[in-house]
Amino acid sequence: MNILILGSGGREHSLAWAVLQNPKCDRLIVAPGNAGIAQLAECAQIDILDGQAVATFAADESIDFVIIGPEAPLAVGVADDLRAAGFAVFGPSAAAARLESSKSFTKTICDACNAPTAAYAHFTHAEDARAYVRTRPLPIVVKADGLAAGKGVVVAETLKDALDAVDDMMGGQFGDAGAEVVVEDFLTGEEASFFVLVDGTTVLPIGTAQDHKRAFDGDTGPNTGGMGAYSPAPVMTDAVTQKALDEIVKPTMREMAQRGTPFNGVLFVGLMIDAGQPSLVEFNVRFGDPECQGLMMRLGGQVLDLLQACAEARLDSQTVHWADDHALSVVMAADGYPGDYVKGSEIKGLDALPKDSFHMAFHAGTSTQDGKTIATGGRVLALTARGDTLQQAHDRAYAMVDAIDWPAGFCRRDIGWRAL
Ligand code: AMP
Ligand code: GLY
Repeated sequence: MNILILGSGGREHSLAWAVLQNPKCDRLIVAPGNAGIAQLAECAQIDILDGQAVATFAADESIDFVIIGPEAPLAVGVADDLRAAGFAVFGPSAAAARLESSKSFTKTICDACNAPTAAYAHFTHAEDARAYVRTRPLPIVVKADGLAAGKGVVVAETLKDALDAVDDMMGGQFGDAGAEVVVEDFLTGEEASFFVLVDGTTVLPIGTAQDHKRAFDGDTGPNTGGMGAYSPAPVMTDAVTQKALDEIVKPTMREMAQRGTPFNGVLFVGLMIDAGQPSLVEFNVRFGDPECQGLMMRLGGQVLDLLQACAEARLDSQTVHWADDHALSVVMAADGYPGDYVKGSEIKGLDALPKDSFHMAFHAGTSTQDGKTIATGGRVLALTARGDTLQQAHDRAYAMVDAIDWPAGFCRRDIGWRAL
């Protein structure tokens, strides 16, 4: 099989790594890819937000299967364009991707099937949102309705912060994404991410994880796209997992199908768990980054069979083969991230790292210049390890971190603290 993966992050590096473990993969192209991905697959410079351009490229390269990594191409309908052109595709339609691209849409779907989620209201006028905020208890959560690269959520501790968030978002901070806002009550508990494949009808759980969204140790500092993650998440007991499936995932997926917009792809279910009861915080319609890196190391080559079965609506015949193991991923980011960060610094020490089924240095924002690896993104590396215990995975991942010579980068030293 000839396979095309769209994306350029650590998530796509790990998808490429897993797909290549499967003997069915004859040729792998990643577009646009990055310096780490280029070490194991061909990279191609195409505009992945242009569905017609991707379809033309896929036809020229005799691609049999396309895996779409990030949310942006899904939200603009690249999966629809590829399916219309006759390709097998892993990733939802634009209509189903609204579960990530519109927070108010997700709330409407939850309302329609009584899925537990925070009480909320949806606004198109700042005055109405401000009036509502004044009537609710603090803290309160203000969310831009559309895609804002993980930055469109403010958990406000004071009324002033909440009102400022409304004004900033509706005043154009996130462009059109903030033209509408959702204001919701603050949920308490422990967060976890639950990943399920959905082929329109069948729901197949493929793993759980917890990530660390704050930039600095002790869960302090600004929110980021994720500074590290581990899998599995201990809070996702069998009982909590069953409740999440029965009360949130299955009803919402049935509702999507009944509306004529069935979901096909991976659903990233962001949960808050309080006293054994899960509530939905958000859906994403793609794998998490860096959660994906750990999941891919744990699942290995079977991932290709599972993603293909999902795309072809054959999930009812699939089983996931679990190893009783743990994975942990530490993100190294450029100094300054998530604000303005330094670009162009050299990273040394990567070649000496072990590269086996227990250790992988996934690249997120790198390029190669004159044979050197250069940091080009905010999140730059995801050092990921697998072990029999979380402690072993942790120690292996941090041993990789310590072997990297990159003075212009930083990482958190406490990934996994809650579970360790
Ligand atoms: P989201 O992009 O919707 O996942 O929100 C980003 C982060 O904000 C989440 O991972 C939570 O930590 C936090 N958050 C979002 N909504 C809520 C809520 N209703 N209650 C508490 N925390 C929330
Ligand atoms: N790590 C969180 C995300 O990918 O959205």
